[in-house]
Amino acid sequence: MPAGGARPMSLTKALIHLDHLTHNLELLQGLVGERPMWPAIKANAYGHGVDVVARHLVGLGYQTLCVAHVTEAIELIEAGIDATYLLLSASAPEHSESIVSHGCEPVVCTHEMLEALATAAQRLSTSVAIHLKVDTGMGRIGIQPDEVPAFLHRCSALPRVQVRSLMSHFCCADETDKTLSNQAIERFQQLVSEARASGINSFHMANSAAIFDLPASYFDVVRPGIAIYGLRPSWEISNPLVEELKPVLEWRTQITFLKEVPAGIGLSYGHTFHTERPSLIATLPVGYGDGLHRGLSNKCEMLVRGVRCPQVGRITMDQTLIDVTALRGQIGLGEEVVIIGGQGDEVITADELADKLGTINYEIVTAILERVQREIVTGS
Ligand SMILES: Cc1ncc(COP(=O)(O)O)c(C=O)c1O
Repeated sequence: MPAGGARPMSLTKALIHLDHLTHNLELLQGLVGERPMWPAIKANAYGHGVDVVARHLVGLGYQTLCVAHVTEAIELIEAGIDATYLLLSASAPEHSESIVSHGCEPVVCTHEMLEALATAAQRLSTSVAIHLKVDTGMGRIGIQPDEVPAFLHRCSALPRVQVRSLMSHFCCADETDKTLSNQAIERFQQLVSEARASGINSFHMANSAAIFDLPASYFDVVRPGIAIYGLRPSWEISNPLVEELKPVLEWRTQITFLKEVPAGIGLSYGHTFHTERPSLIATLPVGYGDGLHRGLSNKCEMLVRGVRCPQVGRITMDQTLIDVTALRGQIGLGEEVVIIGGQGDEVITADELADKLGTINYEIVTAILERVQREIVTGS
């Protein structure tokens, strides 16, 4: 054994409940039937740890996985995770050779990228499968619907480029008002027959919100992200099945320092909090350097022994304080603290933290950084 003994476990962990991941996939699959699902595992699987999530998905038989960039795909390929990687973001022409040589399937929405991929495929004596992205109202990337015929015509002259699908993405599928979503479906639907005539036989646009609320958008394939992680796409989803999602991630840490503090003492940087009574204050080994947003300072709560304890003072890079006065005499160093998850009868959700920060649950979990060790949990 090397000097110093075995490598210590991190004190702050994200527990990843793979059984919940399986449950959520089954729930979604139940909605879309036999259609293939291409789960989104970009941004470190929405912060859940991409290696663990991707291996689990492949083990369950999911063969196409969506990442944002070729760099994410290469990491997974080099880790030996054998899947087809669909690159959702617009790629840069200078990445063409890398995309082709790794067998990735990029979204394409510019002629420059199309030509660069065709050239790379020619140079490497191979072919490349692409997914043509059409903008049906999102206003981010994609060719306009009226450009589709010309684009497909150009593709047909590039023997090394195979258009595997026509795809789009919703701007507002998670909102109660479905006017824009229905318009997008209609625009997409109009393209389907002419694209079919050009030999395209796969069409997809549904994200998690659409899987719950817009069955008309299922087409041939769906691309769920947030819901596979057991998180609701928004509070405006009307399908009651959204309540059956089970969060995959719990975020836990432990107390590393405890002190009694008299009333009137300022705590942490900037003294943004002063004790109003003699208080028992615990220090936790977690901060914004782990992805605990500093904007939550003096706003959030954490669970200790199933009791909600207020976070006090500024959240710093590596350490954070909570007021555990309510538990005086009952707790000691090493006591478990829940940042996201359940303990006793209480639960703190990513939604709760998101609401306090004025953001969405996606950002809360995606922000959890590599320094937080991911620990796999296989049973409840
Ligand atoms: C193109 C595309 N498809 C699918 C998804 C998955 O979306 P969601 O996580 O809302 O299910 C995303 C995520 O942002 C995306 O950008």
